[in-house]
Amino acid sequence: MATGIGIIGTGVISRQYFDTFAKTSGLKVVAVADLDLERAGQVAAARGTAAMTVEQLLADERIEIVLNLTVPAAHAEVDAQIIAAGKHVCAEKPLALDVPSGLDILARAEAAGVRVASAPDTFLGTGVQTSIDLVRGGRIGEPFAATALWGSAGPELWHPNPGFYYQPGGGPVLDMGPYYLTALVQLLGPVRRVQSSVIPVRRERVFGAGPAAGKPVPVSVPTAAAAILEHEGGAVTSVTLSFETWGHNNEPFFEVYGTAGSLRVPDPNWFDGVPLLYDASGVVTAAQEAERKWEPVQPSAGFIGGGRGLGLLDLAESIKAGRPHRASGELALHVLEVMAAINAGGAEISSSPAAAEIVGLRELN
Ligand SMILES: NC(=O)c1ccc[n+]([C@@H]2O[C@H](COP(=O)([O-])OP(=O)(O)OC[C@H]3O[C@@H](n4cnc5c(N)ncnc54)[C@H](O)[C@@H]3O)[C@@H](O)[C@H]2O)c1
Repeated sequence: MATGIGIIGTGVISRQYFDTFAKTSGLKVVAVADLDLERAGQVAAARGTAAMTVEQLLADERIEIVLNLTVPAAHAEVDAQIIAAGKHVCAEKPLALDVPSGLDILARAEAAGVRVASAPDTFLGTGVQTSIDLVRGGRIGEPFAATALWGSAGPELWHPNPGFYYQPGGGPVLDMGPYYLTALVQLLGPVRRVQSSVIPVRRERVFGAGPAAGKPVPVSVPTAAAAILEHEGGAVTSVTLSFETWGHNNEPFFEVYGTAGSLRVPDPNWFDGVPLLYDASGVVTAAQEAERKWEPVQPSAGFIGGGRGLGLLDLAESIKAGRPHRASGELALHVLEVMAAINAGGAEISSSPAAAEIVGLRELN
């Protein structure tokens, strides 16, 4: 039987989740809710589901998992409501605004006997899963380093209501960091130490879309940072995340380097994409190195044709099968701890999640 889903928050990103759920038979959206009742009603009508108040949705016994698609500042509070109603949580990123709030969510869930899953779930698509499969399978030898570079000029250029991107829980580190860091933790292992510099850029920002178009954007978070991450196994990643980059030529840029080759990882903000492998086996001269090509690698792992919501599908299947789910609260908490350390100028990291099992190559169904 399909697992009953409730969705709280029917803004911009909810569309992508609905599109994914339409491709699966294992999940049924029973109802949606939003502080903005009109928006919830419109989305419900467009997607053939019911609109309810948050309280009604949480009391509905057909709903087993609640998807929290509210803005970052509301994540912890809404998660706590979901957990108190005895339902499993699947939440958008970041897990919470800070590590204590993230720990509190996990403690509440454990006490209530429910599970927490969190975005991003992009790493369950074929692009990053195939990359993880290659690295764990030894195709680049011993991985020792990675580079992750992401920049844009800022979401106020396109988002109709982008204020939250510049308040706590936003900024490039907490907004885009989850995609890169979640993939990096799967590729190179948990992070044990962060060194970082917040890059001070003070440019006037103006809303480019939505009701506040033309007005200045209030900013209270770092808008660019560069960091060095030391992973538990000794590998080192350099990562730059920025809302200050005009034109973003050649970005995103995401490569992993090993003793026997290099891997270009597809954009971890999306689900597919083709990894490029530079296999250095047998190369001993500069001519051989130049002759050897980066080769595209066909998918060997992950959900084919995935979209936002895969983590929820995996959560529902994992609950039924009694196994750990992959986009776990523990993984999201670790990523949150790393992101907080990047914005703080560096720190030792104490959390250390287990590696998520690779998803065998499969359809959504
Ligand atoms: N927009 C994107 O491209 C995108 C991509 C990936 C992830 N996300 C994440 O998804 C989340 C939502 O982003 P969005 O772009 O959809 O934002 P949005 O502002 O378009 O929508 C958020 C919705 O949540 C509702 N809401 C806020 N607090 C609430 C509460 N306490 N109870 C009920 N409803 C509440 C708002 O009324 C709004 O309709 C954020 O965490 C964001 O980081 C967004």
